[in-house]
Formats: sequence, C-alpha cells, structure tokens
Amino acid sequence: MSVFDLNEEAGQALCDELGPDRAIFHAVDVCDDKQVADAVKATVDSFGTIHININAAGIPAPTKILDREGSPCDLGKFAKVININLIGLFNAMSKCVAVMAKNDPENGEERGVVVNVSSGAAYEGQIGQAGYSASKAGVIGLNIPAARELGAVGVRVNAIAPGLFGTPLVMGLGDKVVSSLVETVEAPRRMGDMREFAHTCRYIVENAYLNGETIRLDAATRLKAK
Ligand SMILES: NC(=O)c1ccc[n+]([C@@H]2O[C@H](COP(=O)([O-])OP(=O)(O)OC[C@H]3O[C@@H](n4cnc5c(N)ncnc54)[C@H](O)[C@@H]3O)[C@@H](O)[C@H]2O)c1
Repeated sequence: MSVFDLNEEAGQALCDELGPDRAIFHAVDVCDDKQVADAVKATVDSFGTIHININAAGIPAPTKILDREGSPCDLGKFAKVININLIGLFNAMSKCVAVMAKNDPENGEERGVVVNVSSGAAYEGQIGQAGYSASKAGVIGLNIPAARELGAVGVRVNAIAPGLFGTPLVMGLGDKVVSSLVETVEAPRRMGDMREFAHTCRYIVENAYLNGETIRLDAATRLKAK
C-alpha cells in the first residue's frame, strides 16, 4: 500500500505501524500534477502495479457566500476547497487508473477499483459549507461518467458519503463541538467507527457488480441548515 498525504508525521507513523513491506509513505500534495505522477510511479516501482485507489484527502474550509457586510466571499477560499477536494481527487484518481488499465483482468473483467470519499454535506450542505458541499457533490458527479468511461478498461468507480467519524479533523473541533455534533446523528447516536468505514471500502472493492454508486454511511443523519 502507498499512502499519499501532506502530513508526513501521521502518514509515516501509519506506514511504520504496517511495516515497510506493506506500506510506503509519499509526501504528496494531491493538487500537484508532478508530485502525484512521481508518487504513482514510485508505487508501481515498489509494488508492481495498483489495483485499488482510495481518495480521501480533503479539507473542510468553511465558506459563506456573503460575509457579515454582505460582500461576496474571497474567491480564493472557494477555489482552495474545490482544488483539494475535487481537482486533487481527480488528479490522483486519473493517474492511478492509467496504471490499473494495464493490469491483467481478474475473472476476465476487472482491472481495478476506485473509492472516492465524498460527504453527507454533498446532499444537505449547511450554511457556511458552500465550497465544501460543492466539492463533495462534484465527487458524486464523477461516479457515472467515470464508471461509464472506465468500464471499457475494467475499472469500477464508487463513492462513500460519510456522516460523522471521529477522525483528527473532527476531534480537533474540541469536546463541546464534538458532543453537539453527535447529538445531530440519527441512529445509532454516536460517531462512526473507522472499522465501519474500512468495512464499506472493502465491500465496494469485493462486490464486482457495484459501480457508479454512492453509499451514504451516516446512521440516517440529515444535517440541518445550521
Ligand atoms: N470525519 C468525518 O466525519 C468526515 C465526514 C464526511 C466526509 N469526510 C471526508 O473524509 C476524508 C478524510 O477526512 P478525515 O476526517 O479523515 O480528515 P483528516 O483531516 O483527518 O484527513 C484528511 C487528510 O487529508 C490530507 N490532506 C489535506 N490536503 C491535502 C493535500 N492537498 N494533499 C494531500 N493530502 C492532503 C490531510 O493532511 C489529512 O491527513 C475527507 O475527504 C473528508 O472531507 C470526513
């Protein structure tokens, strides 16, 4: 497995835990064409090929369309979240898929699987999530054209739209905010467990008939406007 992330400390720690035979870290900005191309090449050099590509790099980046004075938001803020969450994801996906397309097909049909990480905010974005929701809806929008195009080379593309998971991104919001967020979860009223997320990735990879679909993994939660 190759781990691509900007956060060298956390990425390297994960790879150390898994061991160098199983996991190699690459310090990569997913928005950078060359960095991703080089890391994909290094992955192929280390492991021979790529069969599974999971794209989870993302930032929350609160963006309101108008500020308190009614002025339009700084375009750079909106562009940044789209750039990382959508364009960066496309950058990594397209380069991994180019490798997958050269694999020998498994069971005569499948050469690879892509799992893209969207969000429940793609469906019910809250006030202040204009950029984030648009980026995550873009990830869902990629499913069908990607599945249709890449079907020809035996690659499936699906997305997961998580609700609330206790990752560093969420836990960094502090206990008070986290408890109030948990109150918004429908049933079961708790954060998702990362094993439940991993289980969904595995299900997508193993089920050869699942294609072009988004799985909501959110305990029936529907976010309110604020
Ligand atoms: N945690 C949740 O409740 C939740 C809910 C819905 C969707 N998501 C999505 O799940 C994904 C993972 O989020 P998480 O909660 O684990 O957050 P996280 O902050 O713990 O992980 C996101 C990772 O993306 C990396 N990253 C950010 N910008 C990058 C870039 N330009 N290049 C390379 N790496 C970059 C960060 O360094 C970080 O390690 C994100 O796409 C997020 O939007 C999370």
